Amino acid sequence: MKRIGIFGTSGMAREARDIADALGYSAVFVARNAEERAAFHDSGDVILESEVGNYKDMPYVIGIGEGAVRAKIAARHANTVRFGNLIHPSATFGCGQRQHIETRSGVIICAGVRFTSNISVGDFTLFNLNATISHDSIIADYVTVSPNACILGNVSIGEAAWIGAGAIINQGSSDRKVTIGNNTLIGSGAVIITDCDADAVYVGVPGRKTK
Ligand SMILES: CC(C)(COP(=O)(O)OP(=O)(O)OC[C@H]1O[C@@H](n2cnc3c(N)ncnc32)[C@H](O)[C@@H]1OP(=O)(O)O)[C@@H](O)C(=O)NCCC(=O)NCCS
Repeated sequence: MKRIGIFGTSGMAREARDIADALGYSAVFVARNAEERAAFHDSGDVILESEVGNYKDMPYVIGIGEGAVRAKIAARHANTVRFGNLIHPSATFGCGQRQHIETRSGVIICAGVRFTSNISVGDFTLFNLNATISHDSIIADYVTVSPNACILGNVSIGEAAWIGAGAIINQGSSDRKVTIGNNTLIGSGAVIITDCDADAVYVGVPGRKTK
């Protein structure tokens, strides 16, 4: 059976394993250290992060929800392993969109996600269950989009930003995208109607900055 390495042992790693399973891969989890491996009580093979160089025959993804952590792991292992993409078979794509995503690395797309078209997708991005991403948007590296979030057209999401579950980012226009700054967190259920600063937290309807 073909194998895929998944960095992490938490809930997100196990959700990545669900995608691997649907694609016919056997998952090998990667624990940070011996304590994390000992604490892992699910089924599945587990290796240590220090051992990944011995398992270069398989592609890897990073099954960790926080984009900043994915960035660190990706940098640490850029020359050790080959990062692949993990795309659930039920995800759907507009014209040319899947081909674009397949040029990236480390992208995880869960069941039910829908992309329309002309969306720029960065490396090590994570799209959780049933998220929808619309036309002409830009999703930078290490962005996390939580379940049922809805990114409308002409939106630009900065590096390592986190869009909470069920949040809606209203559309921009072709000459002015609605922009979410780098590392910003959008709370679950928020409705964002204007640009959001970097390194901030926004919640509510309409979204207001709390940090
Ligand atoms: C936005 C979020 C990060 C805030 O966490 P926090 O910084 O610890 O903030 P607090 O819990 O201290 O709350 C701060 C204020 O924001 C409000 N608030 C927090 N989350 C909110 C939300 N999602 N919607 C509306 N208001 C929210 C709190 O009620 C509180 O209001 P108050 O100051 O008037 O009392 C968090 O609540 C959230 O929504 N996380 C995303 C969860 C998610 O989607 N996970 C996906 C997993 S796959």
